[in-house]
Amino acid sequence: MHPFHSLIEQGLIDRAPKAKVLGIGGSPRKNGNSDVLLDHLLKGVRAQKIPSFKVQLRDVRFQPCIGCEQCRKNQICTGLIDGMSILYPRVFESRGLVLVSPTHNYNVTAWMKAFIDRLYCCYHFDDTRPRGWSSRLAGQGRTAVVSAVCEQADSYDMGFTLEAMRRPLEALGYDVIGELPVFGIFEKGGVREKTDLLDAAEKLGAELAEALMR
Ligand SMILES: Cc1cc2nc3c(=O)[nH]c(=O)nc-3n(C[C@H](O)[C@H](O)[C@H](O)COP(=O)(O)O)c2cc1C
Repeated sequence: MHPFHSLIEQGLIDRAPKAKVLGIGGSPRKNGNSDVLLDHLLKGVRAQKIPSFKVQLRDVRFQPCIGCEQCRKNQICTGLIDGMSILYPRVFESRGLVLVSPTHNYNVTAWMKAFIDRLYCCYHFDDTRPRGWSSRLAGQGRTAVVSAVCEQADSYDMGFTLEAMRRPLEALGYDVIGELPVFGIFEKGGVREKTDLLDAAEKLGAELAEALMR
């Protein structure tokens, strides 16, 4: 067994994840709008004295899920050993999760999609066809918020970005208590000038922290 596997297993069997928040950024653009939004969301979390940890997926060397289905047997991802192997324990130990992605072609970025797909190892599947399923992360009080930013001015052009994060998180057992869509911003870091949106991000982060304290 690869040494990472026992680390991951420890995370998976952690039946009492903590009141902390993992923030995941899905933009390839350093200091871009998603980065700014994520920082303000986590600032709101910390203002409520809940610890947070931030990961920019562009800094993590990891592959998309290869569909090897080894995780069915092993209950962890053993088909790929990469940056996600280190990230899994962070996911499992944190009851709170923040996902932020810019819109790329009406959807989340490839980084964010790859991250979400790599959480496939958290599911249990029955032997029926179609397979019944459940998530090992369910029933643990996991709570999340999601945010997306796009250049165009309306939700048509943001497309599926928010839903592409919210729906898989709900399937995994997260209660997604809020969404922050941000429209009409193209320039790198342009969202810094929109103080109302930064305030909204901090407020949403604080709401997530409060939900974790309940
Ligand atoms: C490959 C690519 C695809 C994009 N697709 C869309 C789109 O479908 N709709 C939209 O409104 N903006 C789109 N944009 C614009 C970005 O969403 C926008 O510039 C955003 O502010 C970038 O956020 P970031 O600074 O966090 O990367 C796209 C940008 C790129 C690079």
